[in-house]
Amino acid sequence: CSCSSSTDFDVLIFTQRLPQTVCYAWKENFSSNTCSPTDEEWTVHGIWPTQYHKIAPSYCNESLVFNLTELATIKDKLEKKWISVENGTTHCSFWEHEWSKHGTCSAVLPQLNTQMKYFEKGLELLEKYDMKNILGQVNILPGNNYTVQEILKGVGTVLGKNCQVDCFSSKKQNVTYLFEIRICFDKSLNFIDCDGIFDFPTNCPSTANIIYPKTLLDQHHDV
Ligand SMILES: *[C@@H]1O[C@H](CO)[C@@H](O)[C@H](O)[C@H]1NC(C)=O
Ligand SMILES: *[C@@H]1O[C@H](CO)[C@@H](O)[C@H](O)[C@H]1NC(C)=O
Ligand SMILES: *[C@@H]1O[C@H](CO)[C@@H](O)[C@H](O)[C@H]1NC(C)=O
Ligand SMILES: *[C@@H]1O[C@H](CO)[C@@H](O)[C@H](O)[C@H]1NC(C)=O
Ligand SMILES: *[C@@H]1O[C@H](CO)[C@@H](O)[C@H](O)[C@H]1NC(C)=O
Ligand SMILES: *[C@@H]1O[C@H](CO)[C@@H](O)[C@H](O)[C@H]1NC(C)=O
Repeated sequence: CSCSSSTDFDVLIFTQRLPQTVCYAWKENFSSNTCSPTDEEWTVHGIWPTQYHKIAPSYCNESLVFNLTELATIKDKLEKKWISVENGTTHCSFWEHEWSKHGTCSAVLPQLNTQMKYFEKGLELLEKYDMKNILGQVNILPGNNYTVQEILKGVGTVLGKNCQVDCFSSKKQNVTYLFEIRICFDKSLNFIDCDGIFDFPTNCPSTANIIYPKTLLDQHHDV
């Protein structure tokens, strides 16, 4: 539960993540952790309403209880595109987390005021802004290494707006993986620059190469 006094927010961050990198991070925590195999696709992490320069608000309305039954018609699609790869966790617990923490805050917007609208919007944004496609247009491809500047510039070239890139630095492997790409929207869901959001522009190393991992079964980088 958060003690933030205000549930106001300035922007909505739409975050996509690479299941492969989620898995590397998960495995690094405990050697017994395993992951479910996945395709080489970007998936939804969430839509996060946020104030500039802060990670807030969260858990805005506890009366908006997550109810999986309401998502029955899109459950199959969520199970492909909004996934939890960590073995031992469920997709449903991940969805519940995203809804309770973030969805209950964005629910003040008419476009996002039901669970169905929140999760459908996530799927819609993934389809429209799929990073495999966007990065592919500037020849940034899974299985290769790039600097964060190349990735930021590549997304900017295709979309015309600044995004945010996040990385996972593996201490065990002494390498950094591309983890998430975040794009931003105003409260009317217009696409905007991500300038001013927390951690901008990135937690990635500024000059070292970042691995854009190919698949979970990429043994070369697997641990
Ligand atoms: C790893 O463990 C730390 C500390 O318990 C936790 O903060 C972090 O979220 C975990 N990361 C993953 C990927 O599970
Ligand atoms: C998930 O964990 C269970 C129990 O720990 C194990 O039997 C199973 O093989 C694991 N699945 C994968 C894909 O590693
Ligand atoms: C929480 O959600 C309920 C149910 O939709 C609504 O009646 C109430 O006004 C909301 N509370 C806040 C603080 O937004
Ligand atoms: C969950 O949603 C379904 C379908 O809208 C509804 O019938 C059911 O009463 C809801 N359950 C709870 C606990 O609110
Ligand atoms: C990417 O970097 C890793 C770690 O430094 C290295 O093992 C790998 O060969 C590099 N791959 C490419 C395609 O340059
Ligand atoms: C980690 O990698 C960097 C760059 O490839 C290298 O300079 C450094 O010595 C490595 N550190 C360890 C502990 O292997």
